[in-house]
Amino acid sequence: MGSRIMVFGGGGQVGCHLIEMASATGHDLVGLTHEEVDICDAGAVAAAIAGHSPTCIVNAAAYTAVDKAESDAMRSFAVNRDGASVVAEAAAKVKIPLIHLSTDYVFDGSAHVPYQEDDKVNPQGSYATSKEAGERAVRSANDRHLILRTAWVYGPFGTNFVKTMLRLGAEREELRVVDDQTGRPTSTEDLAGAILTLVDSVEKPGFSGWGTYHYVGADTVTWYGFATMIFAEAARFGRKVPQVAPIATADFPTPAPRPAYSVLETAKLERTFGIKPRPLRASLVATLERLFGEGKAA
Ligand SMILES: NC(=O)c1ccc[n+]([C@@H]2O[C@H](COP(=O)([O-])OP(=O)(O)OC[C@H]3O[C@@H](n4cnc5c(N)ncnc54)[C@H](OP(=O)(O)O)[C@@H]3O)[C@@H](O)[C@H]2O)c1
Repeated sequence: MGSRIMVFGGGGQVGCHLIEMASATGHDLVGLTHEEVDICDAGAVAAAIAGHSPTCIVNAAAYTAVDKAESDAMRSFAVNRDGASVVAEAAAKVKIPLIHLSTDYVFDGSAHVPYQEDDKVNPQGSYATSKEAGERAVRSANDRHLILRTAWVYGPFGTNFVKTMLRLGAEREELRVVDDQTGRPTSTEDLAGAILTLVDSVEKPGFSGWGTYHYVGADTVTWYGFATMIFAEAARFGRKVPQVAPIATADFPTPAPRPAYSVLETAKLERTFGIKPRPLRASLVATLERLFGEGKAA
């Protein structure tokens, strides 16, 4: 039997890019949106699996409204913990592997060196806590899992920092962006490529590298640093560039806390799967080319 990937959360920014890339690379992939299958509904998940007979599942479905989760913890836990558990159990029942997406937010951000996979987690806020609980649910339900933590995700689909900056930059003369949160931006194109490499690897006979991994882009920046890079590159596409001023997190209060230092170490993924993170500027330019209609920069 050939391999077939089933993706839950197929309408999200990662899910959409994964579906598109699978089709371009000849992978047999069934993508299911929230509307098509709610991962909290065990019957619907089981029926989808029975109907499509996948050989591997990717769970890209999540409740990702980080600030809203503070006032809707129930929904956040229902999807990020219990929904993850439903998918992991359903995959275990038919003896197929699960690739589950998770987040840098499982760490509290107080470190000063990149986080390793087995560093102590200490999630802050409802979204983070529910995602960390989801990781534990996946580990206990299905031995054959890969938990892939990522961070600062952007791309052509859905809503993300790059698209928000470009929209605000077109509307305003000046933007203020926090300069004391540090992370490694990750493009959905690179992430989708990494996920497909994982799928290809777990389907090889004798694969034994189950566990938790980090995948993020190659370069570390603050949100302010990222914003200035976005506008420097957007200018080469003839876009208007606003003034960008650095501010402190304390000047921009949000309901959910953000980790100050969100840098994930990717060496384990590189060692195990040969996946090398791409430099930020190259990934960003590829995304901008997509967003600006494939036009090349000057
Ligand atoms: N975005 C980031 O910066 C970031 C950072 C670190 C980790 N991650 C992780 O990466 C993964 C993908 O995130 P993303 O950026 O692609 O988020 P996204 O664009 O918000 O996509 C998540 C998708 O899940 C769907 N969904 C929500 N509840 C569901 C349910 N009960 N059943 C089925 N589908 C459901 C959403 O549909 P609706 O919109 O219709 O609810 C949405 O299409 C998540 O695990 C997230 O935690 C993301």
